[in-house]
Parts: sequence; C-alpha cells; structure tokens
Amino acid sequence: MKTIDLRSDTVTKPSEAMRQAMLTAEVGDDVFGDDPTVNELENFIAELFGRDSSLFVPSGTMANQICLKTNSQPGWELLCERECHLVNYEVAGPAVHAGLLVNLLTTDSGSLTAELVRENIRPKNIHSPLTKIVAVENSHNRHGGTIIPQNDIVELAKLCKEHELIFHLDGARIWNVHAATGLSLKELTEPFDSISVCLSKGLGAPVGSMIIGSSEFIEKCRRERKLFGGGMRQAGIIAAAGLYAAKNNIKGLANDHSNARILAEGLNALDTFEVDMDKVQTNIVAIYLKSESKAAEVIEKMASIGIRAVAYSETKIRFVTHLDVSEDDCKEAVQRISKAFG
Ligand SMILES: Cc1ncc(COP(=O)(O)O)c(C=O)c1O
Repeated sequence: MKTIDLRSDTVTKPSEAMRQAMLTAEVGDDVFGDDPTVNELENFIAELFGRDSSLFVPSGTMANQICLKTNSQPGWELLCERECHLVNYEVAGPAVHAGLLVNLLTTDSGSLTAELVRENIRPKNIHSPLTKIVAVENSHNRHGGTIIPQNDIVELAKLCKEHELIFHLDGARIWNVHAATGLSLKELTEPFDSISVCLSKGLGAPVGSMIIGSSEFIEKCRRERKLFGGGMRQAGIIAAAGLYAAKNNIKGLANDHSNARILAEGLNALDTFEVDMDKVQTNIVAIYLKSESKAAEVIEKMASIGIRAVAYSETKIRFVTHLDVSEDDCKEAVQRISKAFG
C-alpha cells in the first residue's frame, strides 16, 4: 500500500530536474561572497519581490529570528497572533535571540487587524515596555492556511508607520497566497519592513529560506546570520535547488490548492470529522474531530491505512497537500479514510 504523506509540504523530495540543477551548480565560498549560484538566487528573489536585496539562510526559523533580532532592541514588545509559528514553534526565539517581550493577540482566522493592534499599543510612559514590532503570518499555518486580506495588511502597515512600529512578515507560504489571490509577490509584501519566505515548503526545495528587504537591512542580517552560525560555504549546491524551485514550482501551487479542497470536501462529508470549508483557502486542511477519539489515536489509525497527518491539538489534525501528492492520491486518501472512519 502506497503511503500518502500529508503531514507537511516540507516532506517533498527533490525532483530529478532539481537534482540535476544541484549537480551542475557553480559554487564558491559564500561567506566571501564568491558563490555565483547563491548570488544568482539572492538577485532573482530580490527582483521577484521588487526589493533591493535578499539573503539565503538555512531555514524559515532562522529567517524570522534574524529579522526580529536585526530590527529590535532587548525589552521591546512584539505583537503577534496567538497561533503564529514564530512563537509556537521557534523555541522561544524572540525572547532568547532578541530579548523581546511577546504579546499574543487572539483572532478567529489568523488575521491581525489594525483595530486589534491599535488597542494593544501601550502608552509611552516610564513604566511600560515599548511596543515596537508587529509580525504577521501569511498564509497562517495553525489557522489552516488562511490568507490575511490584503486590505488588512495595508491598514496595519499604515498604523505601524503612524506609531513607528516595525512590520514583519513570516511569509513561509506567501507563494500560496500569491497563487490563491493572483496578487503579485511584490504587492503582497510591499507593506513590510522585513520579509521571510521559505523555499522548502510548497516550492519543494530540500532546504533554504530567504530574507528580503533593503540593502542596508540585508547587510545587517548577513552579519547576524554569521552570529547565528548560518554562514555557509559552497552553498550554491542547495541554492541551485531553491533557484530551480522559485523558477519552476510556483505554477504548481494551484494544484495543491485544488487537491486540498478534494480532501476537505471528502472528509467534511464524513460524520467523524468537520472542516471549516471557508478556511480552506490554500494547501492546508484543518480537520476537527467530532468523536471522542483523541488526535493521537486518529493519527495512529490513519498511519495504519497509509495516510500520514499531524496533530494541531487533541481535537484538531492537519493535512497539507504538496508537490509529491497528486489529485489521485488525495482521492485515494479520502476513500481509505472513509472506509476506516466513515
Ligand atoms: C509559517 C511558518 N513559518 C516559519 C516556518 C519555519 O520554517 P523552518 O522549518 O524552515 O525553520 C514554518 C515551518 O513549518 C512555518 O510553517
């Protein structure tokens, strides 16, 4: 029985063409700035997002954390959404690396609004921490791949300017937002001071993320990357995969989104599960368990029929579609799950 791995869009393996690009990549020592493939990737991504500069880093976690640290001072306050990746899955990074006080704001769908942020900006006085950074995640992982309406982003950016707050985007899956909305990557990310995006999620590269911004900001981040131990040498080998991914794999994301709907509709039709169909906007499907069963038991039973998923909580599990699962795989997954759980 074929295993259909829907745990994450990070489980993809490099295609033959991607491996060929890696095999033939020109390389040099990137800490000296000598790697032509890394330089090509950084120029390509900067241009794609309409910015001066970009920096190749090993992971999305490092990209987010370097952005926060570069643009902050210890004791500043960061406002972000309660379920965001950079607080829930980055091992207290904002506190450890940047000394930030984190204030988590609760939303229904992952979209911070200007109104909510405004209510949480502290008055400037001798007692209060300085509210200085706002971070958003688009699409939002733990809310099931939801998209923040671009109007909300624009309003937030205005508010940040008014109050001199730094505006950060965790855009690990901004590619999916681009594919789902048709808005350009430049338009989606223009309002931000710092941007992190992943090449190793829906685009299918084996490793790598990018920080994008002004030349001045990226030069500071380059120094921080060294401090984080993220200065890499002949990194063109992996940058070649990222370059291949960014040039060739954006167009496939629409398939991942339609496959996610196949899964969502199929599973929502069963008595055991419930899917908030309005939240199925990209390649992630959050499934609520209606039965008494705990997520861990459901995941174990799914694994026994060759379907892999992960838990968000005891009552909610996650499926993610990606390059390495086809429409037929998703239909097959629905059939197997219907048989086992229906
Ligand atoms: C929204 C979001 N941001 C950041 C990351 C971190 O990426 P990495 O696993 O490369 O550190 C992830 C990883 O899943 C993510 O989902």
